[in-house]
Amino acid sequence: MSTQAGNIEFENVKTELYKRGHPSLTRVDIEAHARTVQKILALKKKHNVVMLGHNYMEPLVFGLSAKEEQGDSLGLSMHAAKTTAPYIIFNGVPFMAETAKILNPAKTVLVADKTAGCSLADNFGAEDVRKLKAMYPDVPVMIYINSYADAKAESDVCCTSANAAKIAREMPGDKIVFVPDIYFAQNLEDELAGEKTVLYPGKGNHGKGAVCEVHEEFRLSDLTAVRESFEIPKGHGSRVLYAHWECRREVLREADFYGSTSQIMADIAKRVAEKRLDRAFVASECELTSNLSQEFPSVQFWTACSIRCSHMAKVNLAKVLGILEAIDAGDSVSDYEVTLEPEVIDRARTPIERMLQMSA
Ligand code: 13P
Ligand code: SF4
Repeated sequence: MSTQAGNIEFENVKTELYKRGHPSLTRVDIEAHARTVQKILALKKKHNVVMLGHNYMEPLVFGLSAKEEQGDSLGLSMHAAKTTAPYIIFNGVPFMAETAKILNPAKTVLVADKTAGCSLADNFGAEDVRKLKAMYPDVPVMIYINSYADAKAESDVCCTSANAAKIAREMPGDKIVFVPDIYFAQNLEDELAGEKTVLYPGKGNHGKGAVCEVHEEFRLSDLTAVRESFEIPKGHGSRVLYAHWECRREVLREADFYGSTSQIMADIAKRVAEKRLDRAFVASECELTSNLSQEFPSVQFWTACSIRCSHMAKVNLAKVLGILEAIDAGDSVSDYEVTLEPEVIDRARTPIERMLQMSA
């Protein structure tokens, strides 16, 4: 929101919210929440807080972050690594905030809801990595960023959906173990066919993996129905079906474009600039499409809004304001602060930094 740089007056904030013309931001929403937004922006500025916003945040929360503070897991990690601000509020889920803490341990990293999970990170731990390493002692382990620090600490390199294929290609050897996302691993297996063997939990072994509970909801039959009912035929010049890497293998193959949340956004931006997009369906978390429809009003977007990430949805305006009010009053922020043992930080930093070097 442009008030980030300007005057954080109530009327300015309200005007900005109205100017957005967001389809899911009605007059009622704006009138109900403008005061909270204004308080958050004023305290954010007063305390020089960096507020990172993942692309899955609901529009009002997403808009609290300046453009350069918004992004996918990779972009936000990069931002967290270089910030000099004393406080980082991470509007996303705790595994993301952990990455920020690991990359910038001197900073205070805060999340609105420490109980928010992720079906990938929650169902795969350090012991699961150790078991796979014992099965494949000479094969490097690449761990998806959607995992907790103790599991990362056991791995050779980290990746996000924006760089997994690149990093897998560049790792030494002709095999790689990818954890924990089984669908992502299968998609990587297809992508790297003939180049590198991708091993993963459950593929010829008894390893335990996980899937994203949100993206698994999209099935091939849904995409076929979408193509028919929204008239998005395969290969159409200006109608595009997008999917995130975490979708099922057959869904990814059906999509016209797949990538990380920011790569999907970037492809849309490019097509809009070239006047090559008028209709899109996005097989990913619903709020990504909410934010896209605000950014690209000329495009007709569809998604399945019954498919929400209940973990991401735990971040809301009231909780974000709660963090800032605690900072402002000099109260304890321990309810929000992400803390990790120094030894875990040290060990988990190696695979994350290796990823950042390899994606440069
Ligand atoms: P991105 O890395 O694409 O932002 O995705 C994170 C995520 O949790 C997707 O479900
Ligand atoms: Fe985890 Fe899936 Fe939610 Fe992303 S959308 S945070 S992978 S549960």
